[in-house]
Amino acid sequence: MILSIRHLKKTYDMGGENVVHALTDVDLEVERGEFMSIMGPSGSGKSTLLNMIGCLDRPDSGSIAIDGVDVTTMPARRLPDVRGRKVGFIFQTFNLVPTLSAIENVELPMRYAGVKGKKARPAALQALAKVGLEDRASHFPAQLSGGQAQRVAIARALALEPAIILADEPTGQLDSKSSELVMNMLRELSETQGQTFIIVTHDPIVGAATDRVVRMSDGGVASDEQTHWPELKQEPGSALALRRDAAPTAVTPANGNGRLDQQMQHIRATVNAIIADLEH
Ligand SMILES: Nc1ncnc2c1ncn2[C@@H]1O[C@H](COP(=O)(O)OP(=O)(O)O)[C@@H](O)[C@H]1O
Ligand SMILES: [Mg+2]
Repeated sequence: MILSIRHLKKTYDMGGENVVHALTDVDLEVERGEFMSIMGPSGSGKSTLLNMIGCLDRPDSGSIAIDGVDVTTMPARRLPDVRGRKVGFIFQTFNLVPTLSAIENVELPMRYAGVKGKKARPAALQALAKVGLEDRASHFPAQLSGGQAQRVAIARALALEPAIILADEPTGQLDSKSSELVMNMLRELSETQGQTFIIVTHDPIVGAATDRVVRMSDGGVASDEQTHWPELKQEPGSALALRRDAAPTAVTPANGNGRLDQQMQHIRATVNAIIADLEH
């Protein structure tokens, strides 16, 4: 078990009677190598949960164990190290430092973690190679496309080989082509490196491309489902939702990328058909 969350609660006290119950009582278990997503309406607690897992903020009660280490009882001074080594972050807005080259951006968390330049440079180059960008090492963020910038951010998240990579809307600012590329890449990393991914997304296409979808509402887990490879259907009163019981589509084996490409195409076509239907 790479992640085990028990009875996690978080409130934000805004003064007076005004208390926001951001997380009510969250239990979640994630196995090593899982490729999963968290979905749910705005304000349902997705980012709060991610921030707790990433040790960016502390819960009021409950526990979070990452790779067997309880990070909720850990002294504050040890948290930055855990944050650096146990979790990697990918953000919607990439968060690259504009004045640093791609490789320097990837090196940054290693430098913070005390890795010396002699070691950091080759490790950063290797991480860039994993996302197919070793030839962009000396480019600055402004010289990269959105998709490339996000791949640099992925390389940065990978650099310290963390147990879990947390991605908050990683495709939120990308066009559909770049989104596919980035999702392909994350999937491939999960399959080839055994990396664990938890991806927060609003995009049903992105959610459907993961193996497991946890849905949050009002600070709690509303559902937790494996995506038996999915067709999309329109559910009464909701937007596009995954249909669990869909017959598994014939999927070519082997080569993860080919398979995901196919999945993506299929999902996209289905979504387009539904949208076209709705418009008529
Ligand atoms: N730092 C904060 N201070 C006060 N309230 C917050 C803070 N962060 C989140 N919240 C509140 O907690 C709830 C959950 O927010 P969030 O986790 O950001 O939701 P999501 O990511 O699902 O949109 C919301 O009602 C939000 O307004
Ligand atoms: Mg959020």
